[in-house]
Amino acid sequence: MGAYQIIGGRPLRGVIPIHGAKNSMLPILAATLVSGGTCVLHNCPQISDADAALTILQSLGCQVKREGDTLIVDTYAADGTEIPAALMQKMRAAVIFLGALLARFGRARLSHPGGCRLGERPIDLHLMGLRMLGASCVYEGEELLCTAHKPEAATIALPFPSVGATENLLLAALSCEGETVLCNAAREPEIGDLIGFLIACGAEIEGVGTSVLRIHGRRPLHGAEYTIMPDRMEAATYLCAAAATRGELTLTQAEPNHLCAVTDILLRGGCELRQSARELTLRCDALRAVSPIRTAPYPAFPTDAQAPVMAAMATAEGVSIFEETVFSDRFRHVPALRQMGAKITATKRCAVVEGVPVLRGAGVEATDLRGGAAMVIAALAAQGESIITKTEHTERGYAELVSSLRACGAEISLTE
Ligand code: UD1
Repeated sequence: MGAYQIIGGRPLRGVIPIHGAKNSMLPILAATLVSGGTCVLHNCPQISDADAALTILQSLGCQVKREGDTLIVDTYAADGTEIPAALMQKMRAAVIFLGALLARFGRARLSHPGGCRLGERPIDLHLMGLRMLGASCVYEGEELLCTAHKPEAATIALPFPSVGATENLLLAALSCEGETVLCNAAREPEIGDLIGFLIACGAEIEGVGTSVLRIHGRRPLHGAEYTIMPDRMEAATYLCAAAATRGELTLTQAEPNHLCAVTDILLRGGCELRQSARELTLRCDALRAVSPIRTAPYPAFPTDAQAPVMAAMATAEGVSIFEETVFSDRFRHVPALRQMGAKITATKRCAVVEGVPVLRGAGVEATDLRGGAAMVIAALAAQGESIITKTEHTERGYAELVSSLRACGAEISLTE
């Protein structure tokens, strides 16, 4: 268990290279299983969620190797179909192994996945879709047993464009005879990356980037070499840190097109932005509140950026109102920001942030991955020292957080 010690109040200035996207890499690691071959994945961030996914792959009989940011996964000899509860607990994305195991072996036994506590996170939509593809899904105590003896293609309309359900159904449909049509599918760029990887493995999928996906099942699959796309949430976090500290940061190896909903808010708040194909520079001299900020599925403003943007808006001039429509309990970072002097009142779905001229350092506990990142941003902007404990939350999703920020002038260190 670690803690960040941060002396705030310094504008961040410099360059930060963005890592590969956690939320692409994790489903793609699960999907390697379906390929049946050896996959070489570049641009894989060294975060604890990656270790958790690799441990699951090993427990299923895969050989895994890391060479810097490249992961090599040989799934040929995989034979396991059960994931122990202790491994499922480590992260939410473990649930994507359900679709992968069904596609490869027609059987999966696992328990409910862990991950950030953001309110209820049921998997009813995943199971509804899997059943429509001919799978039997039954709970045996805490464990879920899914079997698909005769997987059949189907047309599935998701009542909500769930990211995880879309990923699970994409994978499960690969073993179904015929064409599966997935309507109201999630359009997050990470879904596009998963589809890009599956196509590289020989899959036939149409509709990438749209809400209607057509998956032609039973195509022969093989291993592939693939590069994970840039992490838009890591990029959003650093943009918010630049805004909160009234600094100037250049992000390289980024994908500005995936960040429009976040950069739109920061631009409306008075930040200056320059961007090219793979780079963006944000400069902030003064920040005005922007309102309302409403989270919703892509391409709208992302729920994962809500806490980081709130930390920046805590220092803006004026009042911003946040509405969280995706998760039922995603303001768990608010008490910590208040401890740092932020003026925020929140109900379950709505937070009103009245910007203050200065935040002050405090001792706080990270509550979840993005909430912890918001606390880091607030601490970087605050006068004085902050200690943020439970860094295991941020370590799940941010590679080289401390060294990246230090290189841009932050006074931050990690103590064990
Ligand atoms: C993924 C991301 C997470 C992001 C979220 C929304 C990963 C590993 N995680 O999570 O960072 O915040 O997308 O962009 O990629 N829901 C149901 N039933 C279901 C599935 C979902 O009711 O079967 C609800 C959830 O409780 C939640 C909402 O739908 O309220 C969104 O969930 P979903 O899109 O599935 O998010 P995740 O895949 O869990």
